Amino acid sequence: RAQVDRALQACVVDVADYPQEGVMFKDITPLLADHDAFTAVVTALASAGRDEAGDVIIDKVVGMEARGFILAAPVALALGAGFVPVRKAGKLPRETHAVSYALEYGEATLEIHRDAVAPGERVLLVDDVLATGGTIAATRELVESCGGSVHAVAVLMELSFLPGRETNPGLPVTALGTV
Ligand code: PRP
Ligand code: MG
Repeated sequence: RAQVDRALQACVVDVADYPQEGVMFKDITPLLADHDAFTAVVTALASAGRDEAGDVIIDKVVGMEARGFILAAPVALALGAGFVPVRKAGKLPRETHAVSYALEYGEATLEIHRDAVAPGERVLLVDDVLATGGTIAATRELVESCGGSVHAVAVLMELSFLPGRETNPGLPVTALGTV
Protein backbone atom coordinates (compact mmCIF):
# COMPACT_ATOMS: atom_id res chain seq x y z
CA ARG A 1 0.00 0.00 0.00
CA ALA A 2 2.76 2.44 0.95
CA GLN A 3 4.58 1.40 -2.22
CA VAL A 4 1.48 2.10 -4.28
CA ASP A 5 1.02 5.54 -2.72
CA ARG A 6 4.67 6.33 -3.38
CA ALA A 7 4.36 5.13 -6.97
CA LEU A 8 1.37 7.37 -7.61
CA GLN A 9 2.82 10.40 -5.86
CA ALA A 10 6.35 10.23 -7.20
CA CYS A 11 5.83 8.70 -10.64
CA VAL A 12 2.67 10.26 -12.10
CA VAL A 13 3.29 13.66 -13.63
CA ASP A 14 0.53 16.26 -14.07
CA VAL A 15 0.55 18.03 -17.42
CA ALA A 16 -1.74 21.06 -17.61
CA ASP A 17 -3.82 21.84 -20.71
CA TYR A 18 -3.07 18.57 -22.52
CA PRO A 19 -4.44 17.42 -24.92
CA GLN A 20 -6.55 20.56 -24.74
CA GLU A 21 -7.02 23.63 -22.58
CA GLY A 22 -8.55 22.95 -19.20
CA VAL A 23 -7.62 19.25 -19.08
CA MET A 24 -5.04 18.06 -16.55
CA PHE A 25 -3.32 15.07 -18.17
CA LYS A 26 -1.96 12.36 -15.88
CA ASP A 27 1.29 11.12 -17.42
CA ILE A 28 1.94 7.59 -16.13
CA THR A 29 5.00 6.91 -18.28
CA PRO A 30 7.48 7.60 -15.41
CA LEU A 31 5.61 5.02 -13.32
CA LEU A 32 5.84 2.44 -16.11
CA ALA A 33 9.57 3.05 -16.41
CA ASP A 34 10.11 2.35 -12.70
CA HIS A 35 10.12 -1.41 -12.13
CA ASP A 36 9.25 -1.26 -8.43
CA ALA A 37 6.45 1.25 -8.94
CA PHE A 38 5.01 -0.69 -11.89
CA THR A 39 5.16 -3.97 -9.97
CA ALA A 40 3.43 -2.49 -6.92
CA VAL A 41 0.67 -1.02 -9.04
CA VAL A 42 0.07 -4.19 -11.08
CA THR A 43 -0.09 -6.28 -7.89
CA ALA A 44 -2.59 -3.87 -6.33
CA LEU A 45 -4.79 -3.74 -9.44
CA ALA A 46 -4.76 -7.55 -9.66
CA SER A 47 -6.16 -7.86 -6.15
CA ALA A 48 -9.50 -6.65 -7.55
CA GLY A 49 -9.69 -10.02 -9.32
CA ARG A 50 -9.27 -12.04 -6.12
CA ASP A 51 -11.58 -12.87 -3.22
CA GLU A 52 -10.65 -12.32 0.41
CA ALA A 53 -8.88 -15.68 0.56
CA GLY A 54 -6.73 -14.60 -2.40
CA ASP A 55 -8.35 -16.94 -4.92
CA VAL A 56 -8.77 -15.67 -8.46
CA ILE A 57 -12.46 -15.12 -9.20
CA ILE A 58 -12.38 -13.75 -12.74
CA ASP A 59 -11.90 -15.46 -16.10
CA LYS A 60 -10.68 -12.58 -18.25
CA VAL A 61 -9.02 -9.22 -17.81
CA VAL A 62 -10.17 -6.59 -20.31
CA GLY A 63 -8.01 -3.56 -21.09
CA MET A 64 -9.08 -0.57 -23.14
CA GLU A 65 -6.88 0.91 -25.85
CA ALA A 66 -4.44 2.41 -25.35
CA ARG A 67 -3.35 3.05 -21.79
CA GLY A 68 -5.54 0.28 -20.41
CA PHE A 69 -3.54 -2.27 -22.43
CA ILE A 70 -0.34 -1.42 -20.61
CA LEU A 71 -1.84 -2.15 -17.20
CA ALA A 72 -4.37 -4.87 -18.00
CA ALA A 73 -1.98 -7.27 -19.73
CA PRO A 74 0.40 -7.67 -16.76
CA VAL A 75 -2.62 -7.85 -14.42
CA ALA A 76 -3.95 -10.76 -16.50
CA LEU A 77 -0.60 -12.54 -16.21
CA ALA A 78 -0.49 -11.90 -12.46
CA LEU A 79 -3.92 -13.52 -12.09
CA GLY A 80 -3.31 -16.40 -14.48
CA ALA A 81 -6.22 -15.14 -16.57
CA GLY A 82 -6.63 -14.36 -20.26
CA PHE A 83 -6.27 -10.81 -21.57
CA VAL A 84 -8.82 -9.25 -23.92
CA PRO A 85 -8.19 -5.99 -25.80
CA VAL A 86 -11.05 -3.55 -26.32
CA ARG A 87 -9.97 -1.44 -29.26
CA LYS A 88 -10.87 1.82 -30.92
CA ALA A 89 -13.01 1.53 -34.05
CA GLY A 90 -11.70 -0.32 -37.05
CA LYS A 91 -8.72 -2.10 -35.48
CA LEU A 92 -10.08 -5.57 -34.80
CA PRO A 93 -10.06 -7.85 -37.84
CA ARG A 94 -12.94 -10.21 -37.10
CA GLU A 95 -16.61 -9.81 -36.11
CA THR A 96 -17.07 -7.27 -33.35
CA HIS A 97 -19.59 -5.66 -31.05
CA ALA A 98 -19.27 -1.85 -31.06
CA VAL A 99 -20.38 0.94 -28.70
CA SER A 100 -20.00 4.71 -29.17
CA TYR A 101 -19.65 7.02 -26.19
CA ALA A 102 -18.60 10.51 -25.09
CA LEU A 103 -15.14 11.04 -23.59
CA GLU A 104 -13.98 13.72 -21.14
CA TYR A 105 -12.75 15.29 -24.36
CA GLY A 106 -14.24 14.21 -27.70
CA GLU A 107 -16.10 11.05 -28.71
CA ALA A 108 -15.05 7.50 -29.45
CA THR A 109 -16.21 4.08 -30.55
CA LEU A 110 -14.88 0.94 -28.88
CA GLU A 111 -15.04 -2.60 -30.19
CA ILE A 112 -14.53 -6.12 -28.89
CA HIS A 113 -14.24 -9.38 -30.79
CA ARG A 114 -17.55 -11.21 -30.42
CA ASP A 115 -15.84 -14.38 -29.22
CA ALA A 116 -13.33 -12.66 -26.92
CA VAL A 117 -15.45 -13.26 -23.83
CA ALA A 118 -17.47 -16.46 -23.57
CA PRO A 119 -21.06 -16.46 -22.21
CA GLY A 120 -20.97 -16.65 -18.42
CA GLU A 121 -17.39 -15.49 -18.04
CA ARG A 122 -16.53 -13.04 -15.28
CA VAL A 123 -14.41 -10.08 -16.27
CA LEU A 124 -12.15 -7.57 -14.54
CA LEU A 125 -11.83 -4.22 -16.34
CA VAL A 126 -8.50 -2.42 -15.97
CA ASP A 127 -7.72 1.13 -17.08
CA ASP A 128 -5.48 3.99 -16.01
CA VAL A 129 -8.03 6.70 -15.24
CA LEU A 130 -11.73 6.75 -14.36
CA ALA A 131 -12.97 10.19 -15.45
CA THR A 132 -16.57 10.53 -16.71
CA GLY A 133 -16.92 6.74 -16.64
CA GLY A 134 -17.89 6.62 -20.31
CA THR A 135 -15.07 4.26 -21.28
CA ILE A 136 -15.95 1.83 -18.49
CA ALA A 137 -19.69 1.99 -19.26
CA ALA A 138 -19.08 1.33 -22.96
CA THR A 139 -16.73 -1.55 -22.18
CA ARG A 140 -19.25 -3.05 -19.79
CA GLU A 141 -21.82 -2.98 -22.61
CA LEU A 142 -19.35 -4.74 -24.90
CA VAL A 143 -18.63 -7.47 -22.35
CA GLU A 144 -22.35 -7.96 -21.76
CA SER A 145 -22.95 -8.13 -25.53
CA CYS A 146 -20.66 -11.16 -25.52
CA GLY A 147 -22.67 -12.71 -22.68
CA GLY A 148 -20.08 -12.04 -20.01
CA SER A 149 -20.41 -10.00 -16.84
CA VAL A 150 -18.15 -7.37 -15.34
CA HIS A 151 -17.20 -8.47 -11.87
CA ALA A 152 -15.12 -5.43 -10.97
CA VAL A 153 -13.18 -2.43 -12.25
CA ALA A 154 -9.64 -1.50 -11.23
CA VAL A 155 -8.04 1.82 -12.15
CA LEU A 156 -4.90 3.65 -11.14
CA MET A 157 -6.68 6.94 -10.52
CA GLU A 158 -10.18 8.27 -10.30
CA LEU A 159 -11.05 11.90 -10.85
CA SER A 160 -13.32 12.70 -7.93
CA PHE A 161 -14.79 15.81 -9.57
CA LEU A 162 -16.29 13.71 -12.38
CA PRO A 163 -19.18 11.23 -12.02
CA GLY A 164 -17.31 8.08 -13.05
CA ARG A 165 -18.87 5.90 -10.36
CA GLU A 166 -22.37 7.31 -10.84
CA THR A 167 -22.11 6.50 -14.54
CA ASN A 168 -21.51 2.87 -13.58
CA PRO A 169 -24.05 2.02 -10.88
CA GLY A 170 -23.63 -1.31 -9.15
CA LEU A 171 -20.09 -1.79 -10.39
CA PRO A 172 -17.42 -2.14 -7.70
CA VAL A 173 -14.55 0.21 -8.54
CA THR A 174 -11.11 -0.10 -6.99
CA ALA A 175 -9.10 3.09 -7.49
CA LEU A 176 -5.51 3.09 -6.25
CA GLY A 177 -5.55 6.86 -6.03
CA THR A 178 -7.97 9.80 -6.09
CA VAL A 179 -7.36 13.14 -7.73
C1 PRP B 1 -8.51 8.11 -21.32
C2 PRP B 1 -8.09 7.21 -20.18
C3 PRP B 1 -9.33 6.38 -19.93
C4 PRP B 1 -10.44 7.32 -20.29
C5 PRP B 1 -11.12 7.84 -19.07
O1 PRP B 1 -8.40 7.39 -22.52
O2 PRP B 1 -6.99 6.38 -20.58
O3 PRP B 1 -9.37 5.26 -20.79
O4 PRP B 1 -9.85 8.42 -21.02
O5 PRP B 1 -12.14 8.74 -19.41
P1 PRP B 1 -13.67 8.47 -19.15
O6 PRP B 1 -13.85 7.87 -17.79
O7 PRP B 1 -14.25 9.85 -19.23
O8 PRP B 1 -14.18 7.59 -20.24
P2 PRP B 1 -8.37 8.04 -23.96
O9 PRP B 1 -9.64 7.70 -24.65
O10 PRP B 1 -8.03 9.47 -23.83
O11 PRP B 1 -7.24 7.34 -24.80
P3 PRP B 1 -5.93 6.48 -24.56
O12 PRP B 1 -6.12 5.51 -23.45
O13 PRP B 1 -5.80 5.82 -25.87
O14 PRP B 1 -4.80 7.45 -24.29
MG1 MG C 1 -7.78 5.24 -22.25
